[in-house]
This record gives sequence, structure tokens and C-alpha cells, in this order.
Amino acid sequence: MINYSDLIHGLADTPLAHWRLDLEHQLQARLENHNNGNLPKFLAALRALPSTTPAHRAIDQDVVMVGTDSDLSTSEHSALTTALAALMPWRKGPFNLFGHLIDTEWQCNMKWARIAPHLNPLHGRIVLDVGSGNGYYGWRMLGAGAARVIGIDPSWLSVTQHCAINHFLRDDRHHILPLTLEEMTPNIQGFDTAFSMGVLYHRRSPLDHLEELRNTLRPGGELVLETLVIDGKEGESLVPEGRYARMNNVWFLPSVPSLISWCRKMGFEDVRCVDITSTSTEEQRTTRWKPGQSLADYLDQENPKHTIEGHPAPLRATILAQRPFGGRLARYGL
Ligand SMILES: C[S@@+](CC[C@H](N)C(=O)[O-])C[C@H]1O[C@@H](n2cnc3c(N)ncnc32)[C@H](O)[C@@H]1O
Repeated sequence: MINYSDLIHGLADTPLAHWRLDLEHQLQARLENHNNGNLPKFLAALRALPSTTPAHRAIDQDVVMVGTDSDLSTSEHSALTTALAALMPWRKGPFNLFGHLIDTEWQCNMKWARIAPHLNPLHGRIVLDVGSGNGYYGWRMLGAGAARVIGIDPSWLSVTQHCAINHFLRDDRHHILPLTLEEMTPNIQGFDTAFSMGVLYHRRSPLDHLEELRNTLRPGGELVLETLVIDGKEGESLVPEGRYARMNNVWFLPSVPSLISWCRKMGFEDVRCVDITSTSTEEQRTTRWKPGQSLADYLDQENPKHTIEGHPAPLRATILAQRPFGGRLARYGL
């Protein structure tokens, strides 16, 4: 059901081969001691998915899709929608499985469209996606030519949603591991590109997060960092004392010049901001697949330029940067 043996096997003869032994032990321990009361329910949903090998798939379009309506019988359609409902809420997508649109809270295609044109071409690259969620972006990375995508996310719901999608896509180039970046073997230095999107503001120590990201990359590898920012000068950042947009785990929201300076301080080169976008209620909203509250409820109704707590409304920046080649990091004492 959740099985990483093809990944461990597939990493032989790659720049990540040295990671295999550690990874295998770590994943085995995590699966044995998962400490998540909902996991049995999620696994039961995976077991209830119909078995079929669909002919149609598309991972290079806004809606990641697999299968058509006519691939399944009426009872299989019903089993599919029941299993997908047991894996709610669906935050990241959209997906279309056999004609059923999973209209997720986030229209992640909008973020991907803003970021993808600026990336070093992903063709043939081994990619790490830190805080991958259910892997929507990973599919788009493969769709853009990446050789392999490894997502990491401590959320078992994200891991099992990915398993549900990959139950039908059957693609052994894409895995999501139930790990945090901090738990990963340090200094892997094997990824060509590392994404960290929507994670830095959840970290109490953003500079450590940048260092950990840098150490996943091979020399010359690319960092793609997307995070909440504020409008402001170098040196400025917001550390909300209470909640931010109802989230209680938000730490640092730097200005873009501060964020660029943090990346340089942590040894990255060629650091540049390629996008700054305010999050809209078109991009993040309540849907049938993620009922309850969403962005519109987190903003001040009178003044939507502010969150409900009075902070600046969500503004997100994307930074690209490179891990230097050779021994140049030594200059920074890092
Ligand atoms: C706001 S979501 C962003 C998801 C996706 N990357 C995106 O941009 O839409 C943050 C994700 O990061 C995961 N996460 C939080 N802390 C993490 C950590 N230390 N290492 C890896 N993932 C983490 C969460 O479980 C969650 O799925």
C-alpha cells in the first residue's frame, strides 16, 4: 500500500545512492511507529480504490488527470468517490480521476504558472519538493521533464492522497516520504533542484531551513523558495505574536530584500526574486472537497488588505538561487 522499495531500488546508480541505507531504515521505522490514529482509515480508503490501468493520463496540464468516465463501472465509480471522500480535505490540486474533478481548496496550477517559466529547465533533473503536500506540484515537475521527484511531507493525509493518485498513474518516478526536512539525512548534496514552497514561514528558524535546503543540493543546484513576505526594506520582517490568517504556526514573514539577504548569508549565489503575488480568493477558496473556512474568512471583511488579526494580507514571493560550485562555501564559514 505504502511501499518505498521501488524508490530505494531506483536510487542505485544515481547521485542519491549513498542515501539509500539510511532512508530505508528511516522509512521502515516511520511506517512501524506512525503515531497517527487516522492512518488506518486512510489505508482502508486506499484498499477500496478500484483496480484498473487507465489508458489516458495528463500531468502537463492545469488539471492533473487520469482515466475517463467509461473506464469504470457504476459500482467502481461509487467505490472511487467514497474512497476519495474518506481522504478529505483535499487542499492541493486540481485533479481529475475518471471524470471526477477534485476541485481542491488551492488552485495550485496558478502558482505553478507563475513559477515554472523562471526555472532552470527541469529536464532530466532529480528534484526534492520539501512540504510537497499531496504531490500536485511533483506531477507538474515530471510533466515539465524532471527525471524523478521526491516529495517530503510529515502529513500522512498528504502521503496517502498521493498514493491514491499514484494508484492510477502508476508512476515510479514520484514518491512522497513521511518526513520533515530536518529529519532527512543531512548533507545529501545530490538533488539538482530543491523546492520549498509554503514552508519557510512555518519554521521557527528560517536560516536553519535555508541551510538544510542548501545541503540537499549538489554544487550548482537550484533552490526554488516560495514563502509569505511583507512589503518592506532590507532588515524588516514580521513575526506575528499571535495567529496569522488564523494559522498558529507562522513565524517569520520577511520583506523580499531581507529574504534575499538571508539566502546570501546562508551561502546561496545568484539570488533573485522572480514573482510577488497577493493570494486571491480565486486561488484559495472553500470547495466541496475542502469544506469549511478558507481565505475569504481569514481576511478582514471591511478591509481585505488585512488579515482578520490586522496583519498585511497574504503576499507571496518566489526566490531562485544557486548553491555555489566547488569549495566556495568555505568563504562563508558555512
Ligand atoms: C502551506 S503547505 C504548502 C504545500 C505546497 N508546497 C504548496 O506550496 O502549496 C505546507 C506543507 O509543508 C509541510 N511541512 C510543514 N513543516 C515541514 C517540514 N519541516 N518539512 C517538510 N514539510 C513540512 C506541511 O505538512 C504542509 O503540507
